[in-house]
Amino acid sequence: MHIFTEIHPLQSYVQAQRQSGKTIGFVPTMGALHAGHLSLISIAKKECEVVICSIYVNPTQFNNSNDLAKYPRTLETDQHLLQEAGCTAVFIPSDRIMYPQPLQIKLNFGYLETVMEGKFRPGHFSGVGVVVSKLFHMVMPDAAYFGQKDLQQFAIIRQLVTDLSFNTRLVCCPISREKDGLAMSSRNMRLNPAQRAVAPILYQTLQKARQWALQMPVAEVKQKVELQLGKVPEVKLEYFEIADSITLQPIEEVRNQASLCIAAYIDDIRLIDNVFLFDE
Ligand code: PAJ
Repeated sequence: MHIFTEIHPLQSYVQAQRQSGKTIGFVPTMGALHAGHLSLISIAKKECEVVICSIYVNPTQFNNSNDLAKYPRTLETDQHLLQEAGCTAVFIPSDRIMYPQPLQIKLNFGYLETVMEGKFRPGHFSGVGVVVSKLFHMVMPDAAYFGQKDLQQFAIIRQLVTDLSFNTRLVCCPISREKDGLAMSSRNMRLNPAQRAVAPILYQTLQKARQWALQMPVAEVKQKVELQLGKVPEVKLEYFEIADSITLQPIEEVRNQASLCIAAYIDDIRLIDNVFLFDE
């Protein structure tokens, strides 16, 4: 596996691969890799001859400096996992490479960033949009692979690719879950055993809510979700929404393309999850 830390060697490599007729798949990550990330690599490998992963904990998408400081960093293990997964190359830039001078521009995604994650994490999606744009310029991928786990992020990046005319096909990959349904996340390693035991309630609630959504109005579904999670003292619900998966507009009546999205704290650890209303 090739390891790049600078832009020019990465770009020469990508250009050489493309000239020899190979397609380039790209999986951007912030490291602390788990099976969810590796599933993106495996999907990319099925579709592309070259798969490049990036590992960069992007400071401009953290609106809380404590959260940035606490973000898990497991670079050595990550590299082993990528090698085993058959990743062709990894790009591990430093802050100096990504932000040679303080970032000035801001991206505004309009309505898409006013709801759910955007509402609770001001500036987050501007930072995501900027870093993904930079990475796309550096890697120039034919296809880029993101997880449904961050459904709103995917909607934002879809908008970004259209608005800025990136020539990259986007692929939304299914959520990898633990056996008990908990969505895999780098934050799960911060859960103590008692918190870990409680955490699957989020997915269980989403599954119940999916049934309820077919039987009753959205407002009632929301009430039932609040009631269900209110019974568990460790859990503090931040939001539960039923929204169109692409426009993120709230839906009143059940329809295709709707997603049920949740964010909640297990004590001080914030987790998110979602399910599509149909076809899972
Ligand atoms: P990170 O949180 O490391 O996630 C990298 C990719 O892995 C994202 O596309 C995310 O949706 C996907 N992912 C995470 N958990 C998953 C799971 N359980 N199943 C499937 N896919 C999963 O998302 C980011 O990094 C950053 O915002 C980034 C796009 C790299 C920009 O900095």
